[in-house]
Amino acid sequence: MRNLTLLTVPLLAGCAGRHNWLSSAGAEADRVEGLFWVLLIGAAVIWSAVIGAAVYAQRRQVDPGLEHQARWFIVWGGAVIPTVLVCALLIWGLVILRDITPDKGDLTVRVDGERWWWRVTYDGPDGDVVTANEIRLPLDQTALFRLTADDVIHSFWVPAIGGKMDMIPGRETTLALTPNKTGNWGGLCAEYCGGAHALMRFDTVVMEPDAFDAWLAAEAAPARVAPDDPGFAVFRDEGCGACHTIRGTDARGPVGPDLTHVGARARLGAGIYAMTPDNLARWITDTHAMKPDADMPPYPDLSGARLEALVTFLLSLDHAE
Ligand code: CUA
Repeated sequence: MRNLTLLTVPLLAGCAGRHNWLSSAGAEADRVEGLFWVLLIGAAVIWSAVIGAAVYAQRRQVDPGLEHQARWFIVWGGAVIPTVLVCALLIWGLVILRDITPDKGDLTVRVDGERWWWRVTYDGPDGDVVTANEIRLPLDQTALFRLTADDVIHSFWVPAIGGKMDMIPGRETTLALTPNKTGNWGGLCAEYCGGAHALMRFDTVVMEPDAFDAWLAAEAAPARVAPDDPGFAVFRDEGCGACHTIRGTDARGPVGPDLTHVGARARLGAGIYAMTPDNLARWITDTHAMKPDADMPPYPDLSGARLEALVTFLLSLDHAE
């Protein structure tokens, strides 16, 4: 008993917190959770019945007169009832799958799985609003996710809010998420996709609809960059704009995460580190120590005032007026 407790406590602790699909914060997660409990309890009941029957059969004297009943038991218990149950579960599962992969939502969010981060694009009123590694959603509205991948297969999953879905290069899959609790719910890549798979995470921030609209408007605005910003001069000299875009400037690189409002994000490195000056400086100079296999090359020669100016500049790219 004690061994069992030692085994289950860490397992249950792993379920706690913002990745917990059993304390669901979304309509789709509720559906999946319902299916899970029926499967679990149903399996426990059937398992108990089968073991009970086996124990009963072992203790009973063999009675040749019962052969007809035994055949009846095998046909119903071994074929008819399992077939009916499995078909019913299949139909139920297909109905859930149909409902969580609709064609339309209250808003559309495109997410591309990159190595190893998330490119996030909202359909804003004036066109695409591109950001990265942080998804914000309005409470009680159905967000339709259109998912694809750049080069390898990933799997998009926000456990607390809904089901998971593969992201496949050259194909688009869809998934609906209807969050019903505000908060910051963790998201992650649920399929092994290469070196930094375990470090491919994101924040899913569920907000009141008014706050979400204000956030999207701020996110859609171009960055405000002073022409003589010393940090932007470093950004240019080092060629950062070849990979990264800062809308409102001539930095238009399509490869890495959009940095237009990077200072407004809570985390860096695809949801793995707090967005602090120290972490950002280390990310720029020693990228692969923080995230092995990240595609971004480190800039170990940046230091002192130039590094500080670059970090200050990047953190200034927030939503502040
Ligand atoms: Cu992306 Cu695992």
